[in-house]
Parts: sequence; C-alpha cells; structure tokens
Amino acid sequence: MKVYIETYGCQMNEYDSEIVKSILREKAYALVDSAEEADIILLNTCSVRENASRKVIARVHALRHLDDGRKKIGLIGCMPTNHRRDLIADAKLPIDFIAGPDSYRRLPSLIEENRVSGLKTCDVRLSRSETYSDVHPFRTGGANGWIAVMRGCDNFCTFCVVPYTRGRERSRSVENVVAEARRLAAAGYKQVTVLGQNVNSYQHDGHDFAYLLDKISEVEGLQRIRFTSPHPKDFPTSLLKVVAENLKVCKHIHLPLQSGNSRILDLMNRTYGKEDYLALVDKIKSYYPAMALTTDIIVGFPTETDEEFADTVDVVRRVQFDAAFIFKYSERKGTIAARKYPDDVSEEKKTERIVRLNTLQKQISLAKNKAHVGQVEDVLIESLMTKKSPADMQGRNDGNKLVILPKGGGYDIGDFIKVRITDASAHVLKGVII
Ligand code: 5AD
Ligand code: SF4
Repeated sequence: MKVYIETYGCQMNEYDSEIVKSILREKAYALVDSAEEADIILLNTCSVRENASRKVIARVHALRHLDDGRKKIGLIGCMPTNHRRDLIADAKLPIDFIAGPDSYRRLPSLIEENRVSGLKTCDVRLSRSETYSDVHPFRTGGANGWIAVMRGCDNFCTFCVVPYTRGRERSRSVENVVAEARRLAAAGYKQVTVLGQNVNSYQHDGHDFAYLLDKISEVEGLQRIRFTSPHPKDFPTSLLKVVAENLKVCKHIHLPLQSGNSRILDLMNRTYGKEDYLALVDKIKSYYPAMALTTDIIVGFPTETDEEFADTVDVVRRVQFDAAFIFKYSERKGTIAARKYPDDVSEEKKTERIVRLNTLQKQISLAKNKAHVGQVEDVLIESLMTKKSPADMQGRNDGNKLVILPKGGGYDIGDFIKVRITDASAHVLKGVII
C-alpha cells in the first residue's frame, strides 16, 4: 500500500508526520510523494483557527475529484479530536478514517478495519503518557531536525483548542531526548529545533527545560539549537542564562504576547499582565541586548475595546519585535472563551486592527532588518533555491531571519557560511558569500 501525507499547521505536526511515516514503514507501507500515486492519503490537520480547518475540508473534496473512489483518505492530527462527531456523522464528507495525535500507533489497524468493514473508523483517545519516545522519526534530510520533547498543554488559555486536541502535558526523559539529538548529529544534521506546545514547561524526573537545553548542547556535531514555543510564565533566570550564554543555543526567543492589555490577558488566562511581559523583555535584553524576539498576537478577542487594543500597539512599539504573527480571534468549539464570551468584536474591527498592527510591524521589521546591512553573519543553508529564483539559495542567521544569497562556492544544504548582508526588506535579508 502506498501512502502520501500532507501536513498542515504547526511544526509539531511536521514532526508528527515523521512519526507517522516511521510507524507505517515498519508495517511495510511505502511512502510516495504525491496524492496521485497513493492508495492512502493522510492529511495531518490543524484546528487552531477556523481557516485551517476549512482548508482541510476543501482539500478533502478536491482530492476526491482526482480519484476513482478507490483511494482511502484519513484525517489525523488536531481536527479529529476537536470535530470527531461532525467528521464521523457527516455522510457527505468523503473520508475513511480519523486518528488523533495520540493514536498514531493504531493507524495500521484503523486502515485495516476500514478496509474490511467499509465504515469510517476512528480513534481519538488522548493519552497521559504517549510521547512516541521509542519511535525514530522518518526524516528526509535537510539542515534542521525536529525533536518533540514534550506533548500536550495544561495552560488552558481560554481561546485555545490545543489542550483539548492534544491533551495533557507529558515530557520525555533527558536521556531519551539526548539520544535522539545524537542520532541527528550522526546523520549530519547541524541544527535541532526542540519542540513542545509549551516547551519550557518541560519537566522530567526533576529536570527542567534549562537543564535539557544544556544537555542537548553537549552533543558533538550539533551547532545550533532552537526551541519553540515557550510561554512567558515559565521563563526563569536559569533558562534565560542558558539561552544568553550557551554558544550553541540561538539568540532568538519566540515569546507569544497574545495581547498587550492586562484585562484581555486575564480573560485569556495568560497569567501575566502587560507590565510583567515588558519586564521579562527588559530582563531578556539585559542578559543579551541583541536577542531576536518574535511573537504571536491575537486581535479582536471578545470585548476588546479600541483603548485595550491600543495597549497591544504600545507593547509592539516598545518591544520592537523582529517579526510578529498576528491573527484575528477565531472562536473554537469547546474552548473556555467559546463558552463564556460571545465573539462580539466585528469582522470589520478585527480587520482594521490586524491591518494597523501589520503595518506597524512591517515598519519595525524593516528597520530592524536594515540594521543588519554591512554585518557579517553565520548562515546555515536550508535550500538551494528560493521561491523567486533557482539561481539563489537561502538559509537562516542565528536570529532565525531568512537570508537569500546567490549560489556559489559549491556549498550545500546544511553548510555554514559567512555572509555579508548587503540589503534587507521587512521579510528577508540579502547577502553575498565572503
Ligand atoms: N484564534 C486566533 N488565534 C489563535 N491562536 C491560538 N488559538 C487561536 C484562536 N482561537 C494563535 C495564538 C497562538 C498561535 C499558534 O495561534 O497566537 O500563539
Ligand atoms: Fe494554546 Fe496557551 Fe497551550 Fe499555547 S500555551 S498551546 S496558546 S493553551
């Protein structure tokens, strides 16, 4: 049986697709690169905003058009746990099986049971212990390897569906994570990105995230360690020191703000206020002034007024993030916000706010990127082409900024090169090899 997997959403889903590939290969399934060639099509789905779910449903219908009815289509990931009843009950939705993020070991039997019965099969049970720590992800090379060190989330931010789709927090042991990092280094990977829904809540046998990062950095051959996504509430000085001082840990922190207003942050159950967030940023900058900072922001959370939104604008101005991912609030079924707060900020208001913030952030990103012009930076090559040109290659600097440069010098994916930055836009740096 030939399987094709398409991945939507976050980096955890990218990693999970590698886990699924490994599980299916063990059972003698063959992996193929296109839906056309496949007997079984898996869509690894995201449920974090309505748009993400809508995209997947549209894709299912488009895939069915390609097909003579014999292909099996399965949805895996976050949509199955969040929309289980609708996905199963909707007779017009042409899918064959669904599996949640903790049920990937059951995929071969779900596929088989569907083949025998012809009925939609389903396993969306969440586990308190599943970490797939014994599964070696099937990776296809490149500069970066993902390692999920914890799964699930116990924070219950009121807007977020993740605690329901991915269940409770659980962490792998330090030894097990370090063994995976060693395997990556032995396979030639130069960079690992340590993943978790709430990565700095990592906790195993009394060891915290700062300890884990240090241990991973001892693995020979690895040159860069990144991590995502942390929560501002779990940023003790010990972690800040590791990020600021450990030479292998990249000087970049993605620090989701969500809102700059303390009343809205409270309604979101973020457990920090505007001043706490600003104080943390000051502290980060006092340890490492040039730390690259990026963030996530939601505009139009229920009851957010213009004055409260102005606080978010104020924080964005004061922090000067290198980049920000800004989203309109999207009500998710089953979340605390969906139960308690009507989605009462109009679509027009949300649009007005997102446009305003994006315009401001673009100016800030441009100014921050322009400040790199003339500098020499270490770039890890990720791809030997860019979206726009096969004559260029691209990689990232330590602060995770995309750097585009003309190909040359026989350099390949995974190589580190010294690059002089010659130009910058709001989204990328341009440079030349020196
Ligand atoms: N609506 C809009 N954005 C959301 N996010 C999470 N849930 C929602 C939602 N219901 C955003 C947050 C989070 C990022 C991954 O997605 O900003 O940090
Ligand atoms: Fe969602 Fe909050 Fe958990 Fe992040 S920390 S996954 S936003 S509940």
